[in-house]
Amino acid sequence: MTDISFKDRVVVITGAGGGLGRTYALEIARRGGAVVVNDLGGQVDGTSGSSEMADRVAAEIRSAGGRAVANYDSITTPQAGERIANAAIESFGRIDALINNAGNLRNAAMVDLSEDDRDAVWAVHLAGTFNVTKPIFHQMVKQGYGRIVFTSSAAGLFGNAEQSAYGAAKAGVVGLMNVLAQEGTPHGILCNALAPSAFSRMAEKVNLDHAEKMNALVAPFLSALDPTFVTPIVVYLASEACHTTHDIYSATGGRIARIFVGLSEGWLGPRDKPATVEQIAARIDTIRDTSRFQVPGSLVDEFHILANQIAKS
Ligand SMILES: NC(=O)c1ccc[n+]([C@@H]2O[C@H](COP(=O)([O-])OP(=O)(O)OC[C@H]3O[C@@H](n4cnc5c(N)ncnc54)[C@H](O)[C@@H]3O)[C@@H](O)[C@H]2O)c1
Repeated sequence: MTDISFKDRVVVITGAGGGLGRTYALEIARRGGAVVVNDLGGQVDGTSGSSEMADRVAAEIRSAGGRAVANYDSITTPQAGERIANAAIESFGRIDALINNAGNLRNAAMVDLSEDDRDAVWAVHLAGTFNVTKPIFHQMVKQGYGRIVFTSSAAGLFGNAEQSAYGAAKAGVVGLMNVLAQEGTPHGILCNALAPSAFSRMAEKVNLDHAEKMNALVAPFLSALDPTFVTPIVVYLASEACHTTHDIYSATGGRIARIFVGLSEGWLGPRDKPATVEQIAARIDTIRDTSRFQVPGSLVDEFHILANQIAKS
């Protein structure tokens, strides 16, 4: 296979001053792409800020002969999203890909979670992703081309204790991707989501239940939890070679897999009157049975699936 190039491509990466985002920026620049390195340069909880982190990565790219500009906006306002999009267009003339990667973390059990912490997490992961995506999506519509990567998390898709605000936002990001995949298709804009696992400064803050058991569990693939093991799938999703949309990928310990929302065959209840509660109780195992399922491509697709099921019954 020929090398996947980013020559003449422009990629915006939020939170690219460290952790996973830095690895995406370096690899895309190495492949010829111009990169907007956005980073607030703050603490893992999203407080404070400095130009240092974004500057360091942009300088690293330029000293290796690549093209990069730094941007220090916190993505928590729509104005910041506009400034980030403008930085890309003013510096490089277009935007081919956006990697929504910036994130903060504030963990607490539901009973202890403050509204401040909840809002701070939603402001970056959910509103922040909206803020940056909206102007860039608009630019991509004008261009008739685009690739957008949304960063979700197993904490939201599968669940992890003490991450209610974070998990809700990360599941919300998938909802945004689902809708923009539909809106983007006619304009050549492909949208996919990622659920990564990697030892970054953020991972150190996660309360993995039974930490000792987790350590034993991850021991066989510990070295593959380096952030660079997540990089290739993200670079692929941001590239012209990518042809998938509306997908969610897990990148964990060297294993890349697809995560999907499936619809079980379920139970075809009466259509002349609603099922009784007792009928549901009697069939709950059939309803829950996942041995036969489909993956709807959209809300409308679910209706097609049902219509086919009824026609065959
Ligand atoms: N590391 C993991 O195991 C893991 C697991 C699931 C999801 N994720 C997600 O992957 C992404 C990258 O995380 P990471 O592990 O590299 O963590 P990280 O803390 O190393 O990187 C996140 C970056 O985002 C920046 N940032 C934070 N708030 C910002 C804001 N308001 N505006 C702009 N930049 C901001 C930070 O300064 C930091 O450089 C995050 O969205 C995170 O939620 C990571």
